[in-house]
Amino acid sequence: MAKKKVTIPGLQLKKEKGEKIVMVTAYDYAFAKIAEASDADIILVGDSLGNVMLGYDTTVPVTLEDMIHHTRPVARAVKNTLVIADMPFGSYQCGKEQAIESAIRLMKEGGAHGVKIEGGEEIALTVQAMVKMGIPVMAHIGLTPQTVSKLGGYKIQGRNEEAAYGLVEAAQTLEEAGAFCVLLECVTKEVAAMVTEKLDVPTIGIGAGAECDGQVLVLHDMLGFDSGFNQVFVKKYANLGDTILQAFNEFVADVKNGSFPDDAHSFAMDAEELKKIY
Ligand code: KIV
Repeated sequence: MAKKKVTIPGLQLKKEKGEKIVMVTAYDYAFAKIAEASDADIILVGDSLGNVMLGYDTTVPVTLEDMIHHTRPVARAVKNTLVIADMPFGSYQCGKEQAIESAIRLMKEGGAHGVKIEGGEEIALTVQAMVKMGIPVMAHIGLTPQTVSKLGGYKIQGRNEEAAYGLVEAAQTLEEAGAFCVLLECVTKEVAAMVTEKLDVPTIGIGAGAECDGQVLVLHDMLGFDSGFNQVFVKKYANLGDTILQAFNEFVADVKNGSFPDDAHSFAMDAEELKKIY
């Protein structure tokens, strides 16, 4: 049965009914087609594409053009899955107008249904202005990779009382600002459970325990590509890196030993036409 069209009110309903929300990342047409065929609710065109597609060490260098470029093929592949595109570093920090302009580009040129933005209370007014202008916003708190230098590295967030209340307050402020969902990255499971319980809107966790209303994993991590990222919260559902390496090596061997292409993989002339030549 084809999947029902995923909508933002539909996600809210899922939280109310206690049904889990599932988000995967994708950055191109081929993988987005597979995500569309799956039962995943949301495709995130994450700025993690900076790491897994473009080979940067962090997400900081990712540009708005990069995000639009990768969101387009994902949007083309999708009919019923919600597509959310990340606001990259530098596309919203200069203020509300810049944020609205960037988000509009991701939606109009990229085809995203909404955007995700990193930050806490400091971006609440920006989120409010974006939502007022009709832009669906997913907030992203906890470990925010765009400001990893400020955080002092990829560290678990919400480890003590002060940090716990800080995250709860940030989530509530972003909900009040109109965010339709709050993503929690690398947050202790107890704090993620507190945030999830206090918010009316759904939470989606990555490295944030089982109590979140939904979960997301980065495609390259969950499918076993060697992304160089081996965190304890990542579960590998496939080993595509090894499978692809094996396929490449079998192709190389077949070409070298002359077994590819064989007749079954070659075009032949019609026998009568061939006689005219020889
Ligand atoms: O960019 C991304 O893929 C993300 C995930 C870590 C959720 O923000």
